[in-house]
Amino acid sequence: MKRKGEIAKARGKLGVLMPGLGGAVSTTFLAGVEAIRQGSALPIGSLTQLGTVRLGKRFEYRIPRIMDFVPLAQLDDLVFGGWDLFPDDCYRAALQADVLKSEHLEAVRSFLEGLKPWPAVFNPGFVKNLEGPHLKPQANHLELVEAIRADIDTFKRENGVSRCIMIWCGSTEVYLQPSEVHGSLSNFELGLKNNDPSISPSMLYSYAALSSGIPYINSAPNLTVDIPAMVELAEKHQAPIAGKDLKTGQTLMKTILAPGLKARMLGLTGWYSTNILGNRDGMVLDDQASFKSKEESKLSVLETILQPEVYSELYGDFHHKVVISYYPPRGDNKEGWDCIDIFGWLGYPMQIKVDFLCRDSILAAPLVLDLVLFMDLAQRAEMTGIQEWLSFYFKNPQCAAELYAEHDLFIQLMKLKNTLRYLMGEDQITHLGLDYYYAL
Ligand SMILES: NC(=O)c1ccc[n+]([C@@H]2O[C@H](COP(=O)([O-])OP(=O)(O)OC[C@H]3O[C@@H](n4cnc5c(N)ncnc54)[C@H](O)[C@@H]3O)[C@@H](O)[C@H]2O)c1
Repeated sequence: MKRKGEIAKARGKLGVLMPGLGGAVSTTFLAGVEAIRQGSALPIGSLTQLGTVRLGKRFEYRIPRIMDFVPLAQLDDLVFGGWDLFPDDCYRAALQADVLKSEHLEAVRSFLEGLKPWPAVFNPGFVKNLEGPHLKPQANHLELVEAIRADIDTFKRENGVSRCIMIWCGSTEVYLQPSEVHGSLSNFELGLKNNDPSISPSMLYSYAALSSGIPYINSAPNLTVDIPAMVELAEKHQAPIAGKDLKTGQTLMKTILAPGLKARMLGLTGWYSTNILGNRDGMVLDDQASFKSKEESKLSVLETILQPEVYSELYGDFHHKVVISYYPPRGDNKEGWDCIDIFGWLGYPMQIKVDFLCRDSILAAPLVLDLVLFMDLAQRAEMTGIQEWLSFYFKNPQCAAELYAEHDLFIQLMKLKNTLRYLMGEDQITHLGLDYYYAL
């Protein structure tokens, strides 16, 4: 790993490769980046653009913006490309996604119209409720990997790109259990040759990226790079990987509230979460097999934060239920209800109700930006393999096999900022603070 002074400079253009280019998250992200570049919008929700990091002792008042502290790529240096099942340019796709108002889209129309997806690598067996015409011709796994690599090479050449990041913004694939073919790189490469049916399209994209040394970010709950084969591949080609499933609406709320309840030693008997959403993501999740991927991702959060095995009196027997209902009238404007049954002193029951009327893609877009910029930093700092310090962004953070994931948003933020301090040769902040009062 390289640190201050040794980290390669962010020179030249950074290519952002997006499977799912025409989706709600992608188009909201793209329109927003262009509006920010034009100076007509603020990067609200983005830690890299608005966040600060405290350095040194509190009396020093050294609190630089993260973007001034670590060497990140500039927004003007980002160029975009990607794949989708639908041939529409990103302006048309954004209209269809119906997230942003027409006045916002008109202001960036020519930029969005210039972004047209390349034909997708798709297998309907992995995303049931979706059908689109813009596909690569049927071919075997290895030919499809080659076709993805060819798209990337052409994009790099045409745009004079020096580095690339791939971020999956495609649909949620069906739930997949890791199997033998995912267990090692040699098994996986054999599986590629044999057209193994347990290799999903997202794995073909990630294989094409990682084997070319391109970092891969998994915004969906798909298994993709959370398998030993891909970890091995990432290490072999010195590429960072991160995932999985962006932590936005309801799960964001859960990882804010649950650490608070636990900090006060309040018990939990049940947490019922239900969502209604009507975007294409909601339609895909209406299929039970895709929902299972999402459910697994959403359920793991409370168990790890509350640690029932350590606090059996408080959390030994709580009921956790997550429901997602596809309800078209709401479009991208999701509503997430949480009914939380807690208990306090002498076991007296209490209830908390949360009704989050959120906008899925508005919450997700800044995370895409941060992840792209941080993953590029990671690669220039020669940080390879799993980037656990980016857990902050994910519902189900990928971490080393022998560890459990860290879900508490506040620990995740501390981990992220301490990683930045470490990279830049600054002291870690432990928040001990006794040295302000005693000679230690
Ligand atoms: N919006 C959020 O808050 C949020 C949070 C966490 C995770 N996610 C995940 O992000 C992903 C994108 O969400 P969205 O709301 O933009 O969904 P979306 O349905 O609007 O967009 C997904 C796009 O991917 C395309 N696609 C599907 N399979 C593809 C493939 N194999 N190759 C290329 N393109 C493909 C689809 O045609 C579609 O245009 C989903 O997996 C979702 O679960 C979103």
